[in-house]
Amino acid sequence: MKNETKRVAITFDDGPHCVYTEQLLDGLKERNVVATFFVVGASINDNEALIERMSKEGHLIGNHTYNHVQLSCLATDARYKEIDKTNETIESITGKSVGFLRPPFGSCDEDKIMHDMMVVMWDIDPLDWCTNDVNKVVERIVSSVEDGDIILMHDIFETSVKAALKVIDMLKEQGYEFVTVEELIM
Ligand code: NI
Repeated sequence: MKNETKRVAITFDDGPHCVYTEQLLDGLKERNVVATFFVVGASINDNEALIERMSKEGHLIGNHTYNHVQLSCLATDARYKEIDKTNETIESITGKSVGFLRPPFGSCDEDKIMHDMMVVMWDIDPLDWCTNDVNKVVERIVSSVEDGDIILMHDIFETSVKAALKVIDMLKEQGYEFVTVEELIM
C-alpha cells in the first residue's frame, strides 16, 4: 500500500496586489493551504496589511527585489541595495528575517546563494501571466506536476488566482500536500 505524501510548493511572484493578493489569501485560508510569496519591495507601499496577513497566516515571504529589476545587469552594490531594501521593508512589518530570493526573470549569475540569500527558481512555469484562460493554466500545471516541485505563478492577475485555487483543489484530491519553499527544500 502506498502511503507517502506528495509535496509541492506553490509560489507567487510580483505582488502584493491590493485586489488579487487579498482574494488569493482568502482562498488559501479557506483551503488551509500555505504558499510562498516573492514580493516586490516597491509594491508593499500601501499594502503593508497584506504582508502582515501573509506572515500571520503561515505563508513564507521571500524577496523579488525592490523594483523588479534584472539583477545580473546591476553592479554589485546596486544589486545588494535592491535586495537589502526589500528585506528591510518586509522585516519592518513581520519582524521576521527574509532568507529566500527569487531573481526577476530568473536572471542570476550566482548559483544558489546571492548576498547571503538562498536563490529559489522553479520546476513548473505555466506562463500564467500571458493568458486569460484559467483552464489552460490549470492544465499546464496539473499535467506535469510531480512530488517535490516548485510551481511558479503570479498573484497580480485574476486568472492566476482562480487557476491557483483550482490547482490546489485538484492536487489535494490527488493526495498532494502544500508546503512553503522553506519546508520543501530545507
Ligand atoms: Ni517577477
